[in-house]
Amino acid sequence: MELIDGKATAATIKAEIKAEVEQIVAQGGRRPHLAAILVGHDGGSETYVKNKVLACEACGFQSTLLRFEDDITEEELLACVSQLNENPEIDGFIVQLPLPRHINEQHVIEAIDYRKDVDGFHPINVGRMAIGLPCFISATPLGILTLLQRYHIPTSGKKCVILGRSNIVGKPMAQLMTQKQYGDATVTVCHSRSQTLKEECREADIVIAAIGQPGFVTADMVKEGATVIDVGTTRVPDATRKTGFRLSGDVLFEEVAPKCSHITPVPGGVGPMTICMLMLNTLSAAKKEFYK
Ligand code: GUN
Repeated sequence: MELIDGKATAATIKAEIKAEVEQIVAQGGRRPHLAAILVGHDGGSETYVKNKVLACEACGFQSTLLRFEDDITEEELLACVSQLNENPEIDGFIVQLPLPRHINEQHVIEAIDYRKDVDGFHPINVGRMAIGLPCFISATPLGILTLLQRYHIPTSGKKCVILGRSNIVGKPMAQLMTQKQYGDATVTVCHSRSQTLKEECREADIVIAAIGQPGFVTADMVKEGATVIDVGTTRVPDATRKTGFRLSGDVLFEEVAPKCSHITPVPGGVGPMTICMLMLNTLSAAKKEFYK
């Protein structure tokens, strides 16, 4: 069994990005510039955004954090999005989700210029991804693809089961694993209503678990020699930790790992890759790679 080290892979990729940025700067170019909008004081969102700003520093990017209280109106937020769309100094930006209930998230996502949508959430990017056109691919699926590639895990023609059908992970992951240019696999998506979920998993060469239920994938659901990717990051209370919680994956690691050829741990697997992929998308935005 080989552990897929997302933390180390992310560190390597960030160093590669930084080297490229310094080369761009040495040739008289401008540093890539990522902006983040954070609304309110959700603990998880604060941590994510702080880590995104730190990752920008590690990659040699400029970053701008725009903070608003949770009583901001949708109109005010849309005006801010519009300013970032127009600002030529900003290469890409994100609006950290979730937003307060009185704001329609979809309105906000659709207001972002798709050429600056480094989260890959805009319907234009989602649609272009679905038909294999150049686009921003959202960070978690892109991080998983990158781990599979960097660990030389064969996917072409293999059976891949995806647990979960969210817009952010399950659905784009299924699209990408299906496409010839990415996974080229035979893909099955299972969810809370699937009647043959266990049977499907048992036949899979690759299981990608993104359902948000700690310990859902047990040893009896995994084929000997399979690759298991755990996207779960549920916070479970833990009094022994300074933070008062620990992160729990969707996979019961202790019993599943011995059966696997490759497996991602939680934490230290998919998680560290997501922010790193956001940096890669920001670099692409700065280089105008997808949309000239
Ligand atoms: N909230 C949880 N994950 C994400 C993400 O990838 N991007 C944004 N903008 N918000 C999130």
